[in-house]
Amino acid sequence: MELPKIKILDEKNKILHQKSVEVKFPLSAKEKQDIKDMLLYLKMSQIDEEREKYDLRAGMGLAYVQIGVLKRIFVIVDEYEEGKFKNYVVINPEIKSMSEELVYVGEGEGCLSINRDVEGIVPRHARITVDAYDEEGNPYTIRVREEIAIAFQHEIDHLDGILFPDRIDKKNPFKDAELMREI
Ligand code: NI
Repeated sequence: MELPKIKILDEKNKILHQKSVEVKFPLSAKEKQDIKDMLLYLKMSQIDEEREKYDLRAGMGLAYVQIGVLKRIFVIVDEYEEGKFKNYVVINPEIKSMSEELVYVGEGEGCLSINRDVEGIVPRHARITVDAYDEEGNPYTIRVREEIAIAFQHEIDHLDGILFPDRIDKKNPFKDAELMREI
């Protein structure tokens, strides 16, 4: 596999702290290509051999803003079984409902734009239902849970210029841990 030529921006870049705008359909050829590139990049980052070859960090999701385009698109690649990948392409998402139950990633969330260790709890809803559009502009509704629900919330935050450290309590990074389930 050949690594797509995309450059992932670091959190120091101001654009990552800005709000992305709604996408208009049909997508341009460039937008479609960028989506393919982001999906392939994530997949390769999850394959040991490719990750080592290209010196990548493993990542599950990418928002369009992370490669410098302030439009409401994100992608997620989930290796649901050894060597099997499911792609999510999510455009103009809107959260319709969310569980009361909160969860957090025990080992801490990660982000391809954050190149430092960040300690603390990022509260997320265990399950959410999202309305969105696919690459062809077809609307769909998806209900996601656990890791995928966390990834969706992390990426939707990117579209609003929010990075996961922004959600960690500054004074007490492990605040309210007992009120949430660790996953
Ligand atoms: Ni991120």
